[in-house]
Amino acid sequence: MTQLEHHSNLVPWQMLAQHTGATLRYVPIDGRGVLDQAVYQSLLNERTKLVAFNHISNALGTINPVKAMTAAAHAVGAVVVVDGAQALPHSHVDVQDLDVDFYAGSAHKMYGPTGVGLLYGKTAWLETLPPYQGGGEMISEVAMDQSSYAGLPHKFEAGTPNIAGVIGWGAALSWMQQVGLEAIEAHEQALLAYGTERLLAIPGVKIYGVAPEKAAVLSFNVAGVHPYDVGTLLDQMGIAVRTGQHCTQPIMDCFGIPGTIRASLAAYTSREDLDALARGLEKAIALLA
Ligand SMILES: Cc1ncc(COP(=O)(O)O)c(C=O)c1O
Repeated sequence: MTQLEHHSNLVPWQMLAQHTGATLRYVPIDGRGVLDQAVYQSLLNERTKLVAFNHISNALGTINPVKAMTAAAHAVGAVVVVDGAQALPHSHVDVQDLDVDFYAGSAHKMYGPTGVGLLYGKTAWLETLPPYQGGGEMISEVAMDQSSYAGLPHKFEAGTPNIAGVIGWGAALSWMQQVGLEAIEAHEQALLAYGTERLLAIPGVKIYGVAPEKAAVLSFNVAGVHPYDVGTLLDQMGIAVRTGQHCTQPIMDCFGIPGTIRASLAAYTSREDLDALARGLEKAIALLA
């Protein structure tokens, strides 16, 4: 795993390690929020069973070199599981080109509803793995003492699915395709450059996450002020930011901070929104400092 993970890509592996006795190892980040690739290489060996990391960090925006990291893991025979929750809404993802074994995403990060997501897996793995839940729809034949299972993907889809959620997500995906992933990415990258410039022009503002390959989040703090206080004032001005650890406590611990203020940019964000953020931030600083 890496120090850059959302809790959802740490805690399940910790639980699994408690269960199996596996040893967990972490790739650290540097001051820019970039994974140390030399340490990653040095941690990989023939005892490495599984490597799990995100494609894009939700807290810092770092875009990880998934293809190269996957090739390195495969070279020692490890399975690669990628958390794509933040890459799917912001970029074009080709899981076959990346050659990952598993890739996960969430509908609610993609303009869709909560409670539904996806797990891609290579066919060979999905055929080998047993079902993780039993119930209706995942069976082939059921007798009183044993059952056989349905083919893919039904083997892993026990019970009544989240039909409404999937239809809602389908509508969101059609909309994303209409707008175009390249157009969304270009729009967000232009906003990221503009927003970075606006924020850095304000004295006392420090941006966390300055990777050369970065997606459109602005995670920052104001010197001497708690992020919650700034967030509360911005909220009162009608400016929506998130404050806190962003479910990435190890990153905050690495920087020695309680959390950050984070503006997440998306297809609907405009330059005017960033102007409002900068003006709001100046007002909040004047009140708090
Ligand atoms: C990078 C990343 N991974 C995982 C998650 C968790 O997604 P979910 O809550 O849908 O499991 C999120 C968002 O919460 C995220 O930003």
